[in-house]
Amino acid sequence: QNHGVVVVGSMMTDLTAVAARLPRRGETVKGEKFSLVSGGKGSNQAAMAARMEVPTWLVGCVGADVFHQVVLDSLRAFGVHTEHVHVLDGESTGIAHIRVDASGDNDIVIIPNANLKTSARHVDAFFASGHAASVLLLQLETPLETAVYAAKTAKARGLTVILNPAPAAPLPDDIFPYIDVITPNETEAGVLTGIDVTDVDAAIQAGKALCQRGAAHTIVTLGAQGVVHVTGDTARHHLTYRVQVVDTTAAGDAFTGAFGAALARGLAFDDAIRTGLAAGALTVTKLGAQSSLPTRQAVEELIAHGR
Ligand code: RIB
Ligand code: NA
Repeated sequence: QNHGVVVVGSMMTDLTAVAARLPRRGETVKGEKFSLVSGGKGSNQAAMAARMEVPTWLVGCVGADVFHQVVLDSLRAFGVHTEHVHVLDGESTGIAHIRVDASGDNDIVIIPNANLKTSARHVDAFFASGHAASVLLLQLETPLETAVYAAKTAKARGLTVILNPAPAAPLPDDIFPYIDVITPNETEAGVLTGIDVTDVDAAIQAGKALCQRGAAHTIVTLGAQGVVHVTGDTARHHLTYRVQVVDTTAAGDAFTGAFGAALARGLAFDDAIRTGLAAGALTVTKLGAQSSLPTRQAVEELIAHGR
């Protein structure tokens, strides 16, 4: 029985500075906190899927430098299988510079480094290894041609393909036929469709446009506004849980990872969305990427007891 999740994606070490207010150009401000934790969208989504107690593999590359052990230790602590994480000599591990202000909003500069070496060869090695994955998760911090190849290969093998199109970038038409679910946020939906996604109605329009391009389902994530799910001619707005915002970093990853894990477990689509929403909501209540991912128990308690 195939019931696991495979992530073909990125790993980064996140260096986060928290300050009451972010500096203007050329200015220096005193910050309040610093954190160095494992991040990267692929790694965060894999960690969240493993937290939901489904077998999870990550396929990707780090460099043989001082940072890769941070990434590997964290993945292993979450229970992610790391035998398809390649440690490359002469390369550097991906890095993210993150700044968070008092509102909990962030900005991020990523230096993908070794993540850019993730190739079709690594995807093939995973599929040749006798895995038990039924869901593939993809993002855009690794090469686009590798994502297209992974989507095509996974689809041919009957996996459900989920693309979190982050960070925002235009996509080629040839990836859409292989996508079962695409999960952009407002900004990403805007870049992909040219629609200014500022409210639920605009999110529905963007969702319809992405389904017309060939995605079977589009889920536009809207932060505190929840998500909009579009498939065929139907659109539905799901509200989310009200929480105290500390740092929104990795909330989208928690949504996609928990949602993918729920589908792998065989949950109905709406229940999988609810699981993703609970995981995303809990993630914004803590600082950092993987340091903020909730336990399966916390996710299930939030769903059971509501807001
Ligand atoms: O989605 C959050 C992630 O984006 C961070 O962990 C950072 O590494 C960047 O990739
Ligand atoms: Na967080």
